[in-house]
Amino acid sequence: MRILGIESSCDDTAAAVVEDGRKVLAAERLSSAMLQRRFGGVVPEVAAREHTMAILPVVQTVLESQGFGPGDIDAVAVTQGPGLLGALLVGVTFAKALAFAWQKPVIGVHHLEGHLYANALVAPIQFPALALIVSGGHTSLVYWRSHGQLQVLGSTRDDAAGEALDKGARLLGMGYPGGPEIERLAGEVQHTPTLSLPVARLDPASLDFSFSGVKTATAELVRRYPDRRAEVAQALQQAVVEALVGNLIRAWQRHPTDHVYAAGGVTANQRLAERLKAWGQETGVSIHIPPIQYCTDNAAMVAAAAYYRWQMGSRMGLDEGPKTPWALAEAYP
Ligand code: KG4
Ligand code: ZN
Repeated sequence: MRILGIESSCDDTAAAVVEDGRKVLAAERLSSAMLQRRFGGVVPEVAAREHTMAILPVVQTVLESQGFGPGDIDAVAVTQGPGLLGALLVGVTFAKALAFAWQKPVIGVHHLEGHLYANALVAPIQFPALALIVSGGHTSLVYWRSHGQLQVLGSTRDDAAGEALDKGARLLGMGYPGGPEIERLAGEVQHTPTLSLPVARLDPASLDFSFSGVKTATAELVRRYPDRRAEVAQALQQAVVEALVGNLIRAWQRHPTDHVYAAGGVTANQRLAERLKAWGQETGVSIHIPPIQYCTDNAAMVAAAAYYRWQMGSRMGLDEGPKTPWALAEAYP
């Protein structure tokens, strides 16, 4: 079964055709991040305008790259939420219009479910599993029992992990998106770290995250050590990685599983990947991280998630619109 996936929840306009939830036949992505850099972050109206201009050429490029027409596509999938309302509206409206014209079903996908299914592009998901979803807008720990069965164990109470890196990068005078900039700058440090930032600890019973304190502490380090930017970046990256991995380990102690899946833009971070893999080797837990091009927002993950939704009978009505906010716990009825 071939699904055309569409993603437009933030600043990437993406389309992809995926076969049986696994094999990427074509994929294209156009990001407005370069434009957004000027404003230091994503301006929702700018994102929506750029999606409007990009969506048709992006979808056309994907289809034409393989000579695909309506007869080659079985369903259209789209990120239905959560995300920026105007941005989502472009993708959802386009997907519905195309599906109506082609007489195909539409499948609405939750953005975080999409991130999780980036892992299904590599190999079938092995259940039960724990999953750590870390992006610019979300940070969640999930117990993943099977397709369609997710239990959210913990989420951020304030900023998302990626947001903490994006804000830290801005404090260090760097552009958006900040995660890759922080990683690059932190990599310049050759010696043993001498600066550190506190890792927020909530009450021991909770598996929630908090990143607002680390942002304030970063601002203080930047003020005190204006000439040690790389060390500050390293301290920030370390604090975020430790907060993520620390909570994941606590979650695993309560819900031991043989498999742990990471997902979302921040999993492109090599320090986080190394830390997770080292823990996996210690404990024997298999760590799965999507290929780097499928860590950040893309449409192949949307088509992959939709394949499993399709099997559960999930279809989006043509009278439906974007869902934002949309809690992951409510992603499956
Ligand atoms: O999943 P994503 O593309 O979009 C959202 O759903 O938010 O994630 C974007 C986030 C941004 O905060 C960006 O700074 C972060 O992922 N990110 C990284 C790296 N690449 C992207 N964070 C750390 N290291 C990276 N290499
Ligand atoms: Zn995302």
